[in-house]
Amino acid sequence: MVLHVCNSMERGNKLGSFDKEIERRRTFAIISHPDAGKTTLTEKFLLYGGAINLAGSVKGKATARHAVSDWMEIEKERGISVTSSVLQFEYDGYCINILDTPGHQDFSEDTYRTLMAADSAVMVIDASKGVEAQTRKLFKVCGMRGIPIFTFINKLDRDANDTFELLDEIEKELGIETVPMNWPLGSGKSFRGVYERESREVILYSDTEKGTKEGHAERISLDDQTTLVGAIGENAYDTLTGELELLDGAGAEFDLEQVRAGKLTPVFFGSALTNFGVEIFLQNFLKMATTPLPRKADIGMIEPTDDDFSAFVFKIQANMNKAHRDRVAFMRICSGKFDATREVRHVQGDKVMRLSQPQQIMADDRKILSEAYAGDIIGVFDPGIFSIGDTLCAPKNKFMFEGIPTFAPEHFARVRQMDTMKRKQFMKGITQIAQEGAIQVFQEFNTGMEEIIVGVVGVLQFEVLKYRLENEYNVEIKMETLPYEHIRWIENKDEVDVAKLVGTSDMKKVKDMKGNPLLLFINPWSVGMTLDRNEGLKLSEFGRE
Ligand code: G4P
Repeated sequence: MVLHVCNSMERGNKLGSFDKEIERRRTFAIISHPDAGKTTLTEKFLLYGGAINLAGSVKGKATARHAVSDWMEIEKERGISVTSSVLQFEYDGYCINILDTPGHQDFSEDTYRTLMAADSAVMVIDASKGVEAQTRKLFKVCGMRGIPIFTFINKLDRDANDTFELLDEIEKELGIETVPMNWPLGSGKSFRGVYERESREVILYSDTEKGTKEGHAERISLDDQTTLVGAIGENAYDTLTGELELLDGAGAEFDLEQVRAGKLTPVFFGSALTNFGVEIFLQNFLKMATTPLPRKADIGMIEPTDDDFSAFVFKIQANMNKAHRDRVAFMRICSGKFDATREVRHVQGDKVMRLSQPQQIMADDRKILSEAYAGDIIGVFDPGIFSIGDTLCAPKNKFMFEGIPTFAPEHFARVRQMDTMKRKQFMKGITQIAQEGAIQVFQEFNTGMEEIIVGVVGVLQFEVLKYRLENEYNVEIKMETLPYEHIRWIENKDEVDVAKLVGTSDMKKVKDMKGNPLLLFINPWSVGMTLDRNEGLKLSEFGRE
């Protein structure tokens, strides 16, 4: 008897077309330290999906390299990805949504929000560098979300670190178990391909032309020693079999449950640039990654296959298109089908409306869409009504998805406009940039609107703020850095009289734009002292949007 395990695509064929559409969706974020190869890998995925003919058409010249995912000038100047973008493409019956994330740790809050919209994450690591500073920070953020993480160790066409050491480093530094799904044959000039553990086959690549998917891959069984030795030579064969023996003795077993729980990461090796191992990674990843997951709301879990449409806003991006000076709210569809002709309820705004210009974004191109399904990410024109974390649902419903936590800012500055006549533009800019979640805005607790204190998670955000106010709002600003590093939200603000709170000498009382009271401290121990001095006071490190 042959036991046939039905894979998700086959299961999909037995479902109705609505369920089938959801079942074939895979929505994932891609994270890495800058330069590990995230952009190159994404382009190769698109290439396999036939979304573009030549990867080069997206990437273009080195100078235009960030054209796909980066919109802001500042990103181009710095060569880092500040904001995240979304791409959708089809591959082998799957409908794939890739969420790009900023590589720089100063924007880890943005990464976190993007991860809220994803069902799994792909982590790209440079084989000659191993786990780098930003990988560590981004991974921590990934861990907070508890989603499955798939690792692609890239740049094997260059001299790489020892494979066992790389795996060891991931386990020790990131605290996640690894299970190699394939194994590289050499690295640098001697990199020939990978051994696939499941099929027990060596996949050898011929040199591919950079940017094409034409390259030839030859499969040879590990058991066919003669052919394999003939192809890779005695030395490479001995090294491979030796390493595999060690691996079988020491490595963790593959366990899909553990992978889905984010406790075990399947590891793949390859070279995005030369296309070695990219398609195998894509195929296996798609098989293992989950279909759209249910999301938590105040009325319980919302299943993706629920008939009614629902979504939440996880990102707001202004000025994606300079010519239009517009603002786009990105939302993740959590259930049902989005139909552009039907009305939806914006729960926080308590309004029933039709979403304006729903679109899918592909590089600089936007495609107006008429329908989308749970798992998809859509961007809609935002006239300034949406905030991060907002829920949209069918008009008859009125539930809210669990909020997206706000990261505690660690840097603060008093910000003023240079030209007092430009107060209006200044406030408009500050308010809009705060709505996008790029900065948090506070005021002195007892005064009116005059003094603006800005809090950010990473100092680079100060630069982005300055740059954007000058370029988009035509306002020059002066920034005075403040010494505070610790912020606390007052959880029981209705029970305490904030004006009468007895703090420490390094404490400052502020309020956010909604009037919520907060405390800023220079020293971490002052937090405890303030708690001691005010009985019943409850402080929290996180706010919720
Ligand atoms: P990122 O998005 O993670 O920041 O990295 P990106 O893909 O932009 O890649 C960073 C650099 O590494 C690029 O080189 C890219 O060509 C190179 N790269 C990516 N994957 C591989 C690989 O598998 N092997 C090798 N050898 N290099 C790889 P660059 O010189 O900065 O840009 P370009 O001139 O090649 O466009």
